[in-house]
Formats: sequence, C-alpha cells, structure tokens
Amino acid sequence: MYLNTLLEVRDLRVYFYTYAGVVRAVDGVSFSVRKGEILCIVGETGCGKSVMSRALTRMVKPPGRIVSGEVLFDGIDLLKLPEKELKKIRGREISYVYQDPGSVLDPLYTAGFHVAETVLTHNSSMKFNEVWGKAIRIFREVLIPDPEAKAKSYPHELSGGMKQRVVIATAIANTPKLIIADEPTTALDVTVQAQVMELIRSLKNKYNSSVMLITHNLGVVAEVCDRVIVMYAGKIVEVALVEELFTNPLHPYTQGLLEAVPNPLRKVERLRSIHGSVPNMIDLPEGCRFNPRCPHKLQLCNKEPELVEYSKDHLVSCWLYKR
Ligand SMILES: Nc1ncnc2c1ncn2[C@@H]1O[C@H](COP(=O)(O)OP(=O)(O)OP(=O)(O)O)[C@@H](O)[C@H]1O
Ligand SMILES: [Mg+2]
Repeated sequence: MYLNTLLEVRDLRVYFYTYAGVVRAVDGVSFSVRKGEILCIVGETGCGKSVMSRALTRMVKPPGRIVSGEVLFDGIDLLKLPEKELKKIRGREISYVYQDPGSVLDPLYTAGFHVAETVLTHNSSMKFNEVWGKAIRIFREVLIPDPEAKAKSYPHELSGGMKQRVVIATAIANTPKLIIADEPTTALDVTVQAQVMELIRSLKNKYNSSVMLITHNLGVVAEVCDRVIVMYAGKIVEVALVEELFTNPLHPYTQGLLEAVPNPLRKVERLRSIHGSVPNMIDLPEGCRFNPRCPHKLQLCNKEPELVEYSKDHLVSCWLYKR
C-alpha cells in the first residue's frame, strides 16, 4: 500500500440485476485515494462513476449489488463493516456532495438545520446552541453572506449557488477525511461553478482532506485536480497525474476525450468527436470494451487488457503499450 494512501479500492464490482439482463456498471475497478489529493474521475455518461462512488460506502440500492471487492479505509474494509459501524464513517469521515442540491435539501427544514443535524448525528452530546453556532461558523467558512439570516432560510429561498454551498457546508461539517463530490457544479452557471470549485480546493487545503471529484468538465480537471482516473464502460482505462494526462494521454479513449474539447495550446482545424457511442452495458464487447470505437484496434484487442504501470504514477489498460 502506498504510504500516503487514505482509501484503497480493490477489484470492486457492482452489477444491476434487471429484467433486461445484468448491467455490469462497475466491473473490476482498483485504485487508491491519497491523503490530501484531489482525485478526478472522468468518463462518458453511464460509465459507472456515480455507482462506483456510492458503492464505496455501500450506498447501492437494489437491483444493484456489490458483487465483489474490498474498500480499505484506514485499513478497514468498508464492504465488510456492520451497517452500524459504517454509519459512523458515512457523513463523518467520508461525505458526499451531489450534483443537484435541490434534491438533497429537505424543503421543510432551514438551511442551518441541515448542517446542525449532520453535526448532531455524530456528536450527540453537543447542546443545540453550540451546534447552531457551529453551523453558522461553517456557513461563514463556505462564504455564505449574512450566515445568521441564511441559516434561517428555507431551501426555496436560496439561489442554486447558495444551496450548493449549504450542501458543501453539510459535507464538511464533521471535517471528513474524504469528500466525494459528484458533478458538484453541473447545475450552476459558469462563474458560480468556478467559485464553488475554488471553495472545495481551499477547504481541502485547510483541512488536508482528500477529495474525489467526479466531473464531465475537463477544464475543471485541468484546473483543480492532482490525479485523474479515466473510466470507460465500468472499467478504469487510464490513471495519471493531471499534467501527464494532458501532455501524454496514452489510452485512445483518453486521447479522444482530449481531442473533443478546445485546447488553446493545440491548433486544430476543428474539434473531433469520438466515433460511435458508449456500449450497451448489458451486452459489452469482448475484450477491450473500447475496441469497437478504437482507431488503433489490433487483433489482440479481443482479449481484455490489464491496467498496468506504463511509467511512475501512469497506468494504462491498452494492448498498444504491451511490453
Ligand atoms: N438502478 C439502476 N438499474 C439499472 N441500471 C442502473 C441503475 N443505476 C445505474 N445503472 C446503470 O449503471 C451504469 C453506470 O451508471 P452511473 O450512474 O454510475 O454512470 P455515470 O458514469 O455516473 O454517468 P453520468 O456521467 O451520466 O452521471 C449505467 O449504465 C446505468 O444505466
Ligand atoms: Mg453520475
């Protein structure tokens, strides 16, 4: 195990047993999250990012099932932990920020109540006044203006950006070791997006927490991440430090992703899109799952490549790099 590892995932598999067939949403994923890093997860829609992140604390609902794997957090396997013990970790040591703050905040409760409740859940001996005071302090920390008044507001009285700050306040209320943010800015406009990302980064620096950031936005990746995991159809195809990924993408899928977004350093006539579409997760192609779309397809690609180290901190799962 890497010395600074906070969380290590080994061979995680999450399948959905539907009438149409088995959806292999996450299919043998291994990676680690290092202490104090911002790790980004990127990949096309439906490739298993959200399901994977929820599975880390066993939040997969039927027909989904965690079929196999280990999730070691501080050396303890979360997949084997009794639910009562896991509840102490979820929300306290590992917390989540979701895409749509509106769906997380209960319209019947004030913004401050959401934060206070999270604090109380994990510190039941605290008095209400103390807890409310703490909620206000956290509101100030996430740069909510006029925190005393905003804490008494109901979700519908707040703008989208403010609501997402309340969700972030809830997520950091117990100074977690790991914050998992799943598309935290997608519902916000561009300037607010930048503010929220900056906020996540500054909170990470302050508490030395680790952040797992799931995003579609490669601009966000370039700006805030330390390391990037690229997923395709339930598998990890590439892992690299952010600079390395942008300057030396190895996997044809990663190369395709980068060619599909504007890059001021590269002069191209027009942006390219990746040919074809994401495979049907019930009926996946044999071997490398990207092979039907791959411009470099080899005969070997009908066999599944493993994720192997290409150079230090740079892993890839592609036969082109077989040594
Ligand atoms: N309740 C469910 N029943 C059946 N299949 C599901 C269910 N939830 C998720 N899936 C499938 O699992 C796969 C992974 O979904 P997931 O939500 O993790 O994708 P994602 O990478 O987060 O996509 P997006 O970028 O759109 O958020 C998808 O193919 C999806 O159809
Ligand atoms: Mg998702």
